[in-house]
Amino acid sequence: MNRMSGVIRVIDHLWTEHTSVIVAARDEIVFIPYIGPSLCEADEYEGFRIDPTFFARGVVGGGLDIEVTPALIPLPSQGWTGTPGLEASRNGAVLPLDLRLTETSWDKEIDETFLVLTDSSHQVSVEIVLSLKESNVLTIDATVKNLSDGTLDITSAQVNLPVGDSAAEVLTLGGRHAMEAVRQRTPWGRSRIAIENRTGRTSHEQLGVVFAGTSGFTEQTGEVWGVHFAWSGNFSIMCDGVTETRKTVQLGELLQANEVIVPANESYAIPRVIVSHSPNGLSGCSQNFHEYARSRQPHIQRPVVLNTWEAVYFNHDLETLTSLATTAAEVGIERFVLDDGWFNGRRNDTAGLGDWYVDESVWPEGLSPIISHVRSLGMDFGLWFEPEMVNPNSELFRTHPEWALDGALTNPILGRNQLVLDLSRADVRDYLFQRIDALLSEYEIAYVKWDHNRPLIGGASHQQTLGFYALLDQLNEKHPQVQFESCASGGGRIDLGVADRVNRFWASDSIDALDRLEIQKGLSTFIPIEMLGSHIGSPTCHTTGRKHALSFRATTALFGWLGVEWNLLTLTEKDKDRLRQAIDFYKENREFLHSETFVRIDHPDESIDIRGVYSGMGSHALFAVTRLHSGPSNHSAPLRFPMMKDAGELEVEVIHLGAPRWALHRELPQWITDSPSVMSGSMLANVGLPMPSLLPESSFLIQFSQVVY
Ligand code: GLA
Repeated sequence: MNRMSGVIRVIDHLWTEHTSVIVAARDEIVFIPYIGPSLCEADEYEGFRIDPTFFARGVVGGGLDIEVTPALIPLPSQGWTGTPGLEASRNGAVLPLDLRLTETSWDKEIDETFLVLTDSSHQVSVEIVLSLKESNVLTIDATVKNLSDGTLDITSAQVNLPVGDSAAEVLTLGGRHAMEAVRQRTPWGRSRIAIENRTGRTSHEQLGVVFAGTSGFTEQTGEVWGVHFAWSGNFSIMCDGVTETRKTVQLGELLQANEVIVPANESYAIPRVIVSHSPNGLSGCSQNFHEYARSRQPHIQRPVVLNTWEAVYFNHDLETLTSLATTAAEVGIERFVLDDGWFNGRRNDTAGLGDWYVDESVWPEGLSPIISHVRSLGMDFGLWFEPEMVNPNSELFRTHPEWALDGALTNPILGRNQLVLDLSRADVRDYLFQRIDALLSEYEIAYVKWDHNRPLIGGASHQQTLGFYALLDQLNEKHPQVQFESCASGGGRIDLGVADRVNRFWASDSIDALDRLEIQKGLSTFIPIEMLGSHIGSPTCHTTGRKHALSFRATTALFGWLGVEWNLLTLTEKDKDRLRQAIDFYKENREFLHSETFVRIDHPDESIDIRGVYSGMGSHALFAVTRLHSGPSNHSAPLRFPMMKDAGELEVEVIHLGAPRWALHRELPQWITDSPSVMSGSMLANVGLPMPSLLPESSFLIQFSQVVY
């Protein structure tokens, strides 16, 4: 007997103008041999034939006598020597699973392929929906079904995707509290690059996204594949280069033993995997993710927020907060958010979490006086919660210690003095729903800042995350007018799974403008900028102690959902005027900034950062140019705007949100004048604007508008 590699057959060609995805099978083992540039033009599509011989690489010595292609759910029984895609047991016995394609259907209208893989002898199947969206992203939803009368214990369920074998580097995002989403590049050779998150929330340390690209890929150059795991709990992402020399990315939940036990005839859904491809660098990949996220929610106008946290911390006092609201309205704030400190016993961070009743010792007449005042000034009102947490020093914990994970231990590990409530329990979710619902029903609350300030330990992430989603879904359904922000100590729960349920992310607890540029740059690789809460803080940053001019703070915050987190009662009239001007500028431009194309632009000097938004072929654009730190030369390379190349004649204007911060100039480059000048798009793209010398940690804006004759 000699088992040979079977013939490859193409199951489907998912196609958009920019991207093609091929779904194929060999011996009824399903794999995706290609995710890359579109293979045909629209008018050729109907007659276009994919030749499967392109995907058969042959068999070489030193291994098996069949060619092993990395299956969507790769299994050892099929020759796969990498990490298995599905590991499950029944009655303590590990199942030697062998899944083969048993059913296929298509929906050409929405470019979707539906597959069923079955192992009938072990009574397990996997249903997979592959969908190529208009945003050019591929989504993969896989569900493992237990077809037997007994339970199925799943210890690992992962989806495996080959990205292009030309990928030679991987960019990941991670960091720490108050310095999240820092980019890191790793060469991708034979060693595995593995990301594991065991913190029970998306985490500050590792975001669930990887970008694999050709050697030296930049924002505008190189071929890049972005792969994201849309989930807010534990996960594992592996970039592997070992098997048959194909480059694959494998993703799934990181499950603990006994975490997923599927009852008879029920199923386990692997969270969604989202893949974006760009032939033109990282920014192109990001733009697909942005379009996908935007397509999931109605477009909303995002009001300018005043958050009370860094203004007053826990010192809630009606008189102060009333004056703060009055000043906020004067400078143009549209939403007043009362942060931590309003509920029973919460005078500092050691007590009160769980007791979601307005503290009458601080708010004797409840929240009505402040809310009425805020609303009378034309603003709406937002409120802070941290629903999943409990302080041991709270009425809730005293009454229900059994509701806390680890609550029964004599010496549990606390995080910020708190424990985590067990959200897999319906009674816990019911209590939280009832309390939050009561407050949202009693008061006119437009916005909830939903925090989560400690990691989980010891597993339980799967049920906990589902419990969190269920609670949030229930609240969204009952209060569709309320907007939610995902906070998690800033930056700790940012992913496109929770993005379906919230309107905003608090990007980081650091509002240091310099660090924020790095953090927002990282996050903007897969999250649309309008979802990133971005605040103008006080002149000296509370988390870093660094001082920054208003123009720098405001320009950085402009490319996000703008807010202010600063005790406005300390401002001079001149400060207030400048802040008002910056806020007015955001309001004038927000519709454009929040619906058009965001891009990060390459510059050879790494101390210069260029990012901005443009529409269409560059007919209108707004870019921020920043000098991050002192650069190596007086005349840095010109600023080139490649997207302007066919934009014709453009009016170019320099804008400062505050005082200009030019450095060492006895004479500025001639294009910088007090009035707009007209320039050609092709010159802007190919020659570029001479870069003026700027003080470090300063920025200015350039606005382009097409001249219509
Ligand atoms: C977290 C948040 C902050 C603030 C505090 C309140 O750290 O990220 O913005 O809400 O909690 O305790």
